[in-house]
Amino acid sequence: VSTVRVRIARVEDIDEALELLAGLNELEGAWRVFPPRPVVFSEARDRYARLVTDADGIVVVAEAEGSLVGLGVGEVSRPSSWSDERALDVANVYVDPAHRRQGIGRAIVAELALFAAGRGLERLVLRVFAPNHEAAAFWRRLGFEPRLVQFTARTDELMS
Ligand SMILES: CC(C)(COP(=O)(O)OP(=O)(O)OC[C@H]1O[C@@H](n2cnc3c(N)ncnc32)[C@H](O)[C@@H]1OP(=O)(O)O)[C@@H](O)C(=O)NCCC(=O)NCCS
Repeated sequence: VSTVRVRIARVEDIDEALELLAGLNELEGAWRVFPPRPVVFSEARDRYARLVTDADGIVVVAEAEGSLVGLGVGEVSRPSSWSDERALDVANVYVDPAHRRQGIGRAIVAELALFAAGRGLERLVLRVFAPNHEAAAFWRRLGFEPRLVQFTARTDELMS
C-alpha cells in the first residue's frame, strides 16, 4: 500500500495538476453543451498560478510515490446573487482512477474545508454535471446536498 500525502500545491506542481485536470475534462467532455474555448488549459494554468499564491484561493494535491494522483481547487466566492455571504467555491476535484475509493477524495475535501474554516466561510459549494452519478454519490456521502439545478434546451427545439 503506497503512502498518499494530501497537501497544498506549490508552483512546481502546476504542470502535473493540469494533467489531472485533463483527465477530468476527458470525463466531462461528453456532458458539455457549450463548446470549450481552445485556451481553457492555459487559462487554468494562469488560474492555478494565481491560486497557489492568492489568500482567497487554494489548490490541493494528493501525492503518491512522487506523482500527483489527486486534485482539488477552492476559491472564495459569493454563490448567491441575493446574498453577500461568501463561501468556498470548489472545482476540479479529481482522483486518478487507479487510486479511487481509498479516501483520497475525502481527504482533499477535508483540506479544502480546513482552508474554508480558516477564512471564516461556513459553506463549500460546487457544480456537478447531472449525469455524473458517481460524483453525486461521492458528494452526498461527504454531506453535500443539491441546492439548485440548471436546465437547458436547444432554442430551435423550443420554437413550435
Ligand atoms: C469523485 C471522486 C473524486 C471520488 O474520489 P475517491 O478518492 O475515490 O473518493 P473517496 O475514496 O475519498 O470516497 C469518499 C466516500 O465517497 C464514497 N464514494 C466514492 N466514490 C463513490 C462512487 N463512485 N459511488 C458511491 N460512493 C462513492 C466512498 O465510498 C467514500 O465513503 P466512505 O468513506 O463512507 O467509505 C473520484 O471518483 C473521481 O475523481 N471521479 C472522476 C472525477 C469527478 O467526477 N470529479 C467530481 C466532479 S464534480
